[in-house]
Amino acid sequence: MTKLYKIANIPGDGIGKEVLPEGVKVLDKVGGLYGFSLDYTDLPWSCEYYVQTGSMMPENGIDILSKHDAIFLGAVGFPGVPDHVSLWGLLLPIRRQFDQYVNLRPIKLMPGMNTPLAKPGKIDFLIVRENTEGEYSDQGMILAEGTDEETVIQHSVFTRKGVDRLLKYGFELAQTREKKLDWATKSNGIYIAMPYWDGRAALMSKNYPDVATAQYHIDILSAHFVRDPARFDVVVASNLMGDILSDLGAACTGTIGVAPSANLNPEGKFPSMFEPVHGSAPDIYGQNIANPIGQIWSGAMMLEHLGEVEAAGAIMRAIEFVLSDETAPRTADMGGTATTQEMGDEVMARLS
Ligand code: NAI
Ligand code: MG
Repeated sequence: MTKLYKIANIPGDGIGKEVLPEGVKVLDKVGGLYGFSLDYTDLPWSCEYYVQTGSMMPENGIDILSKHDAIFLGAVGFPGVPDHVSLWGLLLPIRRQFDQYVNLRPIKLMPGMNTPLAKPGKIDFLIVRENTEGEYSDQGMILAEGTDEETVIQHSVFTRKGVDRLLKYGFELAQTREKKLDWATKSNGIYIAMPYWDGRAALMSKNYPDVATAQYHIDILSAHFVRDPARFDVVVASNLMGDILSDLGAACTGTIGVAPSANLNPEGKFPSMFEPVHGSAPDIYGQNIANPIGQIWSGAMMLEHLGEVEAAGAIMRAIEFVLSDETAPRTADMGGTATTQEMGDEVMARLS
């Protein structure tokens, strides 16, 4: 009997609706080649859905998703619905309720890609971003609203459990790679949370004496991403810092359009979610020029997570093949004129 995976598809908004079908196309083909199939539930949850119903997903949304092996998402957010409403109405509840505490974001300079860096060297590292707490918090208050004394307080929340489980994941990942882990901090300015974060990291590192560590303040870490990305292998960061670093890292590898990400519940107790790093790109939506590689690569990460390692590898080889072939179609972000579908078709054609 062929293996069957139940996947919840959420194309979301903008170019999410254009790139997700390309990911599905590639997944279906690779499934056929490697002897498994995917059964999709298409869910229209999005800003459009919000405008019609008043919420980003139905009340039993989490319950519906929990009956799936994984979630495949495009992007969420569109002008007309404030970004904090769309994010807090869909992505954040999914990440939090399913304990997807690791946001894994590969930063890799693929063959044939043009980087804006003058001397890139090798770029191939993983950002391990905290995904359920930290600076992304709805705790705080506005005092003396509307007066000259107006004061806004926004809390960050760092729990020992939340920090430690992320660090543990990072160190275990580092052990499978170059045994090198760097973490982002800002303990000079963020007086309480970041010294705590550094302390937990230092303590955790004692369990992994074979892993070399360094801590960097986020400002100089950003500079190193641009000046000397070759030095990194596993970079662990808080929710906000990891978010910023991953767009910067992706930009250093050429275009944010190819960058993938996984929202992982490493214990497998809940479904994990796979989505490109980019957003819904309203500026190019409808032109059919969005790069689908980030979505397709996210699909490969999903298959790897589901245990279909060979099929995931086949997708990665196909992507590398297309990118390194100068005569292959390229979307506008890579300097070409190809449509989203032409790019997806090309990856499909190179699958074996
Ligand atoms: P964005 O990633 O949507 O776009 C940034 C720039 O990169 C734009 O110029 C866009 O055209 C370009 N771009 C992005 N993806 C591309 C692709 N696949 N191919 C070619 N070019 C691409 O970020 P922005 O503009 O900050 O946010 C737009 C909306 O997306 C907002 O509503 C935001 O909240 C949402 N968003 C959602 C995310 C998610 O669903 N995980 C992540 C980031 C933003
Ligand atoms: Mg982001």
